[in-house]
Amino acid sequence: MKKIICKTYEEMSAEAAFIIANQVRTKPDSVLGLATGSTPIGTYKRLAEEHKKTGLDFSQVKTFNLDEYYPIKRDNRQSYRYFMDENLFSHVNIPPSNVNIPDGECSAPEKECSDYDSGLNKAGGTDLQLLGIGNNGHIAFIEPGENLPLATGLVELTQDTITANSRFFEKEEDVPKKAISMGLSGIMGSKHILLLISGKAKATVVKELFSGKVTTQIPATLLNLHPNVTVILDEEAAGLL
Ligand code: PGA
Repeated sequence: MKKIICKTYEEMSAEAAFIIANQVRTKPDSVLGLATGSTPIGTYKRLAEEHKKTGLDFSQVKTFNLDEYYPIKRDNRQSYRYFMDENLFSHVNIPPSNVNIPDGECSAPEKECSDYDSGLNKAGGTDLQLLGIGNNGHIAFIEPGENLPLATGLVELTQDTITANSRFFEKEEDVPKKAISMGLSGIMGSKHILLLISGKAKATVVKELFSGKVTTQIPATLLNLHPNVTVILDEEAAGLL
């Protein structure tokens, strides 16, 4: 894994936006895997600015998001659909028909998950997959465990994740207990994985990530098996390396 340590969150975001913009300029019909959470917000902000200032063109880009709570209404402010509209899609020219996010309102999640993987496979997988990491080492909502899912599926969130994400909800009870998450095949099938990590709270998991071992108890360590991963960290996240 290639490691880039930046001084600040802003520098990390600028570096990530530069890589994504470059991907889109080099291959205008790129398939981008996108992530939610606090970490990529600065990156999306810079991509929106790049679109506004330089006309960076997303008109042929297709996107696949990693996950969505289940169940959740699309217009719930905590849904990842809402997050993406707010932070990126309403600011750039990606055609809505090119956007793929698991549907938190679907009545048949199993079918939704298999259709999601079919769509991803039909698109040829992602050219670039943006990723964050949970304090517990999850990627997407692939939570620590003995067995990890290969396919997109409905998953139970761990208490760690519910507690970590409760900061976005009024109260912890409001956090959905399940989510639809891309599986490892979808993530590992990407041509280039871009993992962003920021803040002191992630320093322990970052140490594990670069420990030279893989374990399903820290799903992100499996990224060590992928041939083309770029990890961009800020100094706080890299504090224990
Ligand atoms: P965060 O979430 O960017 O809000 O820290 C990352 C994740 O849980 O994958």
